[in-house]
Amino acid sequence: MAESQTATWTIGRLLQWTQGYLADKGLEEPRLSSELLLAAALGCRKIELYTRFDQAPAAEQVERFRELVREAAGHKPIAYLVGRKEFYSLEFVVTPDVLIPRPETELLVEQTVTVLRDLKREPAWVWDIGTGSGCAAVAIAKFHPAARVVASDVSTSALAVARQNAERHGVGERVTFVEADATEISAEVVPTDGFDVLVSNPPYIAESQRMSLPANIREHEPALALFGGADGLAVIRKIAAGGLAKLAADGRAFVEVADGQAESAAAVFAGEGWAHRDTLKDGAGIPRVLRLGRRP
Ligand SMILES: C[S@@+](CC[C@H](N)C(=O)[O-])C[C@H]1O[C@@H](n2cnc3c(N)ncnc32)[C@H](O)[C@@H]1O
Repeated sequence: MAESQTATWTIGRLLQWTQGYLADKGLEEPRLSSELLLAAALGCRKIELYTRFDQAPAAEQVERFRELVREAAGHKPIAYLVGRKEFYSLEFVVTPDVLIPRPETELLVEQTVTVLRDLKREPAWVWDIGTGSGCAAVAIAKFHPAARVVASDVSTSALAVARQNAERHGVGERVTFVEADATEISAEVVPTDGFDVLVSNPPYIAESQRMSLPANIREHEPALALFGGADGLAVIRKIAAGGLAKLAADGRAFVEVADGQAESAAAVFAGEGWAHRDTLKDGAGIPRVLRLGRRP
């Protein structure tokens, strides 16, 4: 994108050039990334780009786009550059204070909504530990109107983003945000009969794996959201130790784990008296979500 050629850069040409450039820089999904960045620079929806292919954006819009492309080429995640990420077909605000929602975490929402529909309890109580952007808590509240959700996190700045997302999706009144370490929430927010469903996507990467993470994750996503101590199980241990006492008699839990961690995480839960029913696989076939409950 040479400066002197700005006037001749149509949307179609900008996309074509940027796709090749980002591919050369090793970015995954270079076409989608180019479209998301250009839509952000133009302040329009991605789909509108297709009806404006032959239009040439204003010079300052091209300049804004060029800056975004530069940052993307340096492996800053696209979601942080555009400030948005889709999760469970809802759009979430994301900032570098929160983990970028991942598709595999949609399993937590899918399972919870199914369980709550079968349970037919009103209200139905859900607890999301380590809520981050609030993606799971908000999606559950959105797709199950009888749900009342307690969304907890140790990060004050993540909770601010999560609150924003709850308001954005009109579920702010049914989600209570709590700053707490793992299961250490105050007694006032625990329902009398316990939570019907506990969900968590805790930080689960082992510290020893820090350097094997791709740069876009390691250098940009919050360490607090990624690492679970020396073996990745530190927060999982806390959830296992303190979660069961706050669960309803027929309560369930869905806990996301790392690739290759399902067995050791299940053993931690079993050691604290939980029943590990099975482990659900994600879209890539990786054992990803532990299904847990009380022992009969
Ligand atoms: C992997 S991120 C998950 C965020 C969000 N639930 C999602 O799925 O995108 C883990 C979250 O747990 C929070 N966290 C880390 N340690 C915690 C702890 N000891 N207690 C509660 N939350 C914690 C982090 O701040 C982060 O928001």
